[in-house]
Amino acid sequence: MATFFLLLFSLLFFSASAHIHYVARVTDNPADQLVAALNDNRTAKKESTLYDNPGLGCIALQYIKAYQGDCSVVGGDDAKKPFESQFADTFAPNCGVIASTLSQITGRLVACQSKYVEPSKAFSEILMKDSKSLEILHNKNHTEVGAAVTGTDGGAPYFWCVLFSNGTRNSSFTLEGGEAKITKPGCFSGANDVCSSANDWPRSITLWSYIATAFIAAAYAFGL
Ligand SMILES: *[C@@H]1O[C@H](CO)[C@@H](O)[C@H](O)[C@H]1NC(C)=O
Ligand SMILES: *[C@@H]1O[C@H](CO)[C@@H](O)[C@H](O)[C@H]1NC(C)=O
Ligand SMILES: *[C@@H]1O[C@H](CO)[C@@H](O)[C@H](O)[C@H]1NC(C)=O
Ligand SMILES: *[C@@H]1O[C@H](CO)[C@@H](O)[C@H](O)[C@H]1NC(C)=O
Repeated sequence: MATFFLLLFSLLFFSASAHIHYVARVTDNPADQLVAALNDNRTAKKESTLYDNPGLGCIALQYIKAYQGDCSVVGGDDAKKPFESQFADTFAPNCGVIASTLSQITGRLVACQSKYVEPSKAFSEILMKDSKSLEILHNKNHTEVGAAVTGTDGGAPYFWCVLFSNGTRNSSFTLEGGEAKITKPGCFSGANDVCSSANDWPRSITLWSYIATAFIAAAYAFGL
């Protein structure tokens, strides 16, 4: 009998950890989903798929952070851009990107709004609003891309940033030690990490409810 319960407990435990592992491997990350949407749009027009470079993705997140949550200066007449020098001075060191591998940025798309929307909607309804954005997206000179999504301190306003580059895959935006520094809040593409930009609630709830379910089931099996 004890063996049976032990077996049942192990089974529950392993199915729970398998589930967590599974979740972690799927790109449950709005920045990755945004890259998927724009690559789909490119390939539908027989253009190349852009390499999702984690170093460039992390830089896109730093790029957003340079706005310090000020939505009003993203577009329009007062539009501002971070200084070019910030790429080498701040963005690269914050990400662990080796400065000498910073490559040409061949296009950038930035948007901001107070409401969070799904990546596919952010792509079609916010980022691709004008014909100039479509032109940038379909530029044949790009070879790679990095995207980031963030809510300031985990809330509105929500920023979306896509940076394109013509760098070569293995020698541009290279990361020290080969791994991107995950900086919160915010999500960026290419690093194979699970990330939620709206805030961290949904993910932790799922995880905890799963752990709680497994725990309660195990306790029941032991007759407690
Ligand atoms: C690409 O995206 C634009 C903007 O959302 C859309 O108008 C166009 O139909 C899309 N093209 C393809 C081939 O999906
Ligand atoms: C692509 O790059 C070349 C060389 O840098 C430049 O002359 C050309 O205008 C670019 N093409 C586009 C579509 O931006
Ligand atoms: C990238 O583009 C820049 C400017 O358009 C150009 O000077 C450079 O040679 C290009 N680099 C590559 C690797 O194509
Ligand atoms: C890039 O690096 C990967 C793994 O290190 C290698 O398999 C691939 O051939 C390289 N690609 C290029 C274009 O050098």
